[in-house]
Amino acid sequence: MEARKMAILREEDVILARQLVRKMAADMTFNLVDQTRLATAVSELTRNAVEYARSGDIRMEPVKNRLRREGLKIVVSDNGPGIADIEQAMTMGFTTSNGLGAGLPGTRQLVDEFDIRSTSGSGTTVTIVMWKR
Ligand SMILES: Nc1ncnc2c1ncn2[C@@H]1O[C@H](COP(=O)(O)OP(=O)(O)O)[C@@H](O)[C@H]1O
Ligand SMILES: [Mg+2]
Repeated sequence: MEARKMAILREEDVILARQLVRKMAADMTFNLVDQTRLATAVSELTRNAVEYARSGDIRMEPVKNRLRREGLKIVVSDNGPGIADIEQAMTMGFTTSNGLGAGLPGTRQLVDEFDIRSTSGSGTTVTIVMWKR
């Protein structure tokens, strides 16, 4: 299966990205619970890109580890303002908008691997991986 990439430019793209990852996960025969986890993670991350950075993009790539276990790797990146204090942003309940502050910490709990890199002034990249079980 091929990697897919899409631009996240507006609110509707959050829904489209959510649908696309669910379809890829279904095609890869992820179970229904994990399909939903991935869809939720992708909506949180793409919503953050729209909300805090105005736009971004998402790449979804089937991967395999050294034991040939299949997974889905997703990278959401933007060129927005970045996050000055990542530890604070990862704290449940912390928000600079009127959100719940649960998007980033919730996403970390939903997936197998979570990596966030951000530089103040130059953007944010979040990489997640879910392995098939
Ligand atoms: N892509 C991003 N660019 C800049 N800041 C971000 C980004 N994603 C998250 N943040 C910051 O991290 C905080 C926490 O994000 P999140 O956990 O999704 O909660 P919420 O979106 O409800 O505030 C946000 O309020 C914002 O300050
Ligand atoms: Mg959020």
